[in-house]
Amino acid sequence: MTQHATDGFHHATLVCSDARRTLDFYSDLLGLSLVKKTVNHDDPSAYHLYFGDEAGAPGSLLTFFEWRHLPRGRPGVGGIHHIALGVDSAETQLKWKRRLIDSGVPASGPFDRGYFKSLYFSDPDGQVVEIATAGPGYAIDEPADALGSIMTIPPTAELGGARDEAAIAARTHPTPVPSVTPDMALRGIHHITGITDDVARAGAFFEQALGLSLVKRSVNQDDQKTPHWFWGSYDGQIVAPRSSLTLFEWKGSTNMARPGVGQTHHIAFRAPDEAAQDRVRERLLEMNVDVTTVQDRVYFKSIYFRAPDGLLCEVATDGPGFTVDEEATELGRNLALPPWLESSRAEIERALPPMGDRS
Ligand SMILES: [Fe+2]
Ligand SMILES: [Fe+2]
Repeated sequence: MTQHATDGFHHATLVCSDARRTLDFYSDLLGLSLVKKTVNHDDPSAYHLYFGDEAGAPGSLLTFFEWRHLPRGRPGVGGIHHIALGVDSAETQLKWKRRLIDSGVPASGPFDRGYFKSLYFSDPDGQVVEIATAGPGYAIDEPADALGSIMTIPPTAELGGARDEAAIAARTHPTPVPSVTPDMALRGIHHITGITDDVARAGAFFEQALGLSLVKRSVNQDDQKTPHWFWGSYDGQIVAPRSSLTLFEWKGSTNMARPGVGQTHHIAFRAPDEAAQDRVRERLLEMNVDVTTVQDRVYFKSIYFRAPDGLLCEVATDGPGFTVDEEATELGRNLALPPWLESSRAEIERALPPMGDRS
């Protein structure tokens, strides 16, 4: 079965317990732009914040539902282990390490993952976030035109237990980094890593449903008994940026992800337009996958379905985008509501916790 592959991720949606604190973290500390402040369309008592690049381009977006009273979630089968944001170079990654640690956010790494270097930290609700370098890429241990064809084993020196942890911990930028300089700009979703109980079954699903390609079969460097496979939008030469889905396999585990605060709610892949989204939907129906009807999310159209391990997935259209109800220079400034909730604006605003004036 061949079909046009999704171009990659559209967004990932997480759950936070305090929208203001999340805004401080992702906007002030990490330098992402708040491109939309709205409410959950299915629960208008909850904020829905969208962060991304200045335009809110697909693939740059992290979005948050604020559910203050939801218990804390936990990663597991059918859930997301961490979300990685891209950075251009190892030097700027060290700037991030310095900035995070100086701000009181513990950060570990950078670890050499072969295909990229990885720095890890947690957001205020416990979601694990990674900052990953753009390169050197997947072609370091097998040919660029034959990715995923062999089992690759990381070099022994980079494995947990063998690497020089003290040297890694000591490595940082020599001077404080009080602001996010242009070279540090985070480049959107570098990869998303989930947990599955059957990596082959999950892979077959994403390949068939979304046209993703298997580009790497390896093991978790920190637990070499755990298979770690990678997929992406791959044309036989290049894996598209912002398209890498990677999965750890907990074979046969019944330790399921628990939804909640600090856990990813769902991940969304791109469709260029509604016709392409319809084709994915038809394909899912042919696969006997329970998929929703098309939902109007104002900034894009969405369909939702679950992977075989339970992971909640979405396919979202690229358009119409965030300027549909705010000027490009005003994105995120005011509370945006979908047209069908405008008549209830006063009561919705009254019920939402104050976010403070940031203009
Ligand atoms: Fe990662
Ligand atoms: Fe979504």
